[in-house]
Amino acid sequence: MAVFLVWTLDSGHQGQLLNILFVGDIFGSAGRKIVREHIGHVSQAHNVELVVINAENAAGGFGVTPQIAEDLFDLGADVLTTGNHIWDKRELIDYLNSVPADSPDRPRRVLRPANFQPGLPGYGVFEGTTESGVPYAVVNLGGRVFMNATNDPFHAIDDILKGIEAKVIVVDFHAEATSEKVAMGWYLDGRVTAVLGTHTHIPTADERVLPLGTAYQTDVGMSGPYDSVIGVDKDLVLRKFLTGMPGKFEAAKGNPKMCAALVTCDAVTGRASAIQRIVLGE
Ligand SMILES: [Fe+2]
Repeated sequence: MAVFLVWTLDSGHQGQLLNILFVGDIFGSAGRKIVREHIGHVSQAHNVELVVINAENAAGGFGVTPQIAEDLFDLGADVLTTGNHIWDKRELIDYLNSVPADSPDRPRRVLRPANFQPGLPGYGVFEGTTESGVPYAVVNLGGRVFMNATNDPFHAIDDILKGIEAKVIVVDFHAEATSEKVAMGWYLDGRVTAVLGTHTHIPTADERVLPLGTAYQTDVGMSGPYDSVIGVDKDLVLRKFLTGMPGKFEAAKGNPKMCAALVTCDAVTGRASAIQRIVLGE
C-alpha cells in the first residue's frame, strides 16, 4: 500500500535541487524489516542524496544498539537521530564515546537531543557533505512538554544555528506535544530546511512548506508495526490500561509500515520547495 501526498511552495527558486529522505522512528524488528524493504527503492526513485533515520526505538522498541546502528548505516543512512530512549542500551554509550567530536565516522553520526544537559555522551549536531558536495547539518532536539526535563530547545537551536555554516539544515524535533512542535516549525521557518517531528509514532497529515521555505510535519510517524499501541503489543498495553498493573512491554509485529518524509530543497540556499509524506506497507 502506498500513500503519496505533495504540498509544494511556488518559490521559483534557481539552482540544484537536493532530495532528503527522513524516516520516522524505527520500532523493533518489524520496523527494521519494513525499512530494509523500502528504503533502497524509495531513495533510488527519488534520487535521494541525504538519508536521516530516527532510530531511538529500533532495538526491540527501546533504544538502539551499535550493531543496529551499523546495520542502518549499511542500508544507506547518513545520520541517525534519537530521543528520550537514547540511554536505554548501555552499550551505545561506549559507541558514542568511541570517536572525537570532529570525526566523520559512523558513531559520530548517531545523534541525541542537542538540548540535553551539557557534558553527556554524544552530540546533537552533525555537519557533513553529500556525495555531490552539498554541505548539510542535521540537528536533533528534544521537546519539554509532557517529556522528561531538558534544556529549552528554542534557545538551544538559536545557539546551534550560529555555529552552522551549511544552508541545508534538517531538524528532528523529538517531542510529545503538537503545540510545541508546531511552534518550533514557525520559530525556524526560513532558518532551516526542514523541521520534522518524531516521538509520537503516528504520522500527521499536516506536511507543508511554511511561507519562508521550511518544510514541516508535526510527526513523520513510526516505521514499525501498526497493529499495536504505538509499537507495543496491544494486549499488553490494554492490560495495563484496564488493570493498572505493571508489566513488561514487548514490541508488536503486525501490519508494519515505513513512514517517511521526502523533502526537496535548493542545494545552495537550503530553502525547501516540497515535502511529500510517504507511508509504505508490506
Ligand atoms: Fe521518543
